[in-house]
Amino acid sequence: MKMIRLSNGVMMPQLGLGTFLVADGDVAYQTTLHALKVGYRHIDTAQMYQNEGSVGQAIKDSGLKREEIFITTKQRGHSTIKKMREQFEASLEKLQTSYVDLYLIHWPNHDKKINQQTWSLFEELYTEGKVKAIGVSNFQRHHIEDLMETATIKPMVNQVELHPGLSQIPLQTYLKHEGIAIESYGPLMKGGVFEGIWQEGLSKIAEKHNATIPQIIIAWGLARGVIMIPKSVTPSRIEENFKSKDITLSEEEILTINQLNRGKRVYTDPDNSPWGPYSE
Ligand SMILES: NC(=O)c1ccc[n+]([C@@H]2O[C@H](COP(=O)([O-])OP(=O)(O)OC[C@H]3O[C@@H](n4cnc5c(N)ncnc54)[C@H](OP(=O)(O)O)[C@@H]3O)[C@@H](O)[C@H]2O)c1
Repeated sequence: MKMIRLSNGVMMPQLGLGTFLVADGDVAYQTTLHALKVGYRHIDTAQMYQNEGSVGQAIKDSGLKREEIFITTKQRGHSTIKKMREQFEASLEKLQTSYVDLYLIHWPNHDKKINQQTWSLFEELYTEGKVKAIGVSNFQRHHIEDLMETATIKPMVNQVELHPGLSQIPLQTYLKHEGIAIESYGPLMKGGVFEGIWQEGLSKIAEKHNATIPQIIIAWGLARGVIMIPKSVTPSRIEENFKSKDITLSEEEILTINQLNRGKRVYTDPDNSPWGPYSE
């Protein structure tokens, strides 16, 4: 498995399993267990997904050593330091671990002071060794610049919506300059990649490689140095997605996919989210 070296030297598997909308209980348990059996060593969860308990149990039952698996979880929402610390400790308990590999602020607030305060807790947890790396999610360049006004530690990762309809090349260029790794979510555009210009463009490349459209998208992200976390609860798709790591696209194919960018978001726009003071 190809690894990405984060700015603090932590090694992060570039391909992982997403678990958004993976129901807690048997589904999340079996999905995680199957992925680990197939060879995934990186699981992306969040307090908001409410499945950390089942993910943690599957990791425990997998027979793998804790240090062989990279676990990401995310702070559910901005609150007081005390409440957020309690939420973090609850994550550790559910995941049955003494540390997480990567802890992310799930969404930015429109009030930069709130993001800065949350980040101060992240820095504390990092310094205490309870998280091996800290980062953000859904942060635009300006959110990161605002965070850095008070931060002493730079985020190591930014997880954002990224797929052929929203290739995020300017953001990736900025993050690379800042030494921040970029991670993609929503690679299949909520099914949009099976329609219109995306289906047309991607299916030609998929045919050439005797691969599927999801595999081509994952291979495209990996080739660009993006961390990819496709989600599936279907065993055959979990396997199919994992095999993407063996597909090598040509420079020309990568450019062709880059040109499918239309700035199309299928998830919430971080600058137009409902979180924060709008009327002030
Ligand atoms: N930070 C954030 O705000 C944020 C937001 C969204 C997502 N995420 C993370 O990113 C992960 C991935 O994003 P996502 O779950 O939104 O979307 P996704 O990975 O683009 O797509 C998941 C959907 O595609 C289907 N699918 C997966 N592999 C397939 C394949 N090979 N062929 C056909 N269909 C396939 C899945 O169906 P089945 O499951 O039924 O097989 C599911 O309906 C999440 O699970 C989560 O960990 C983070």
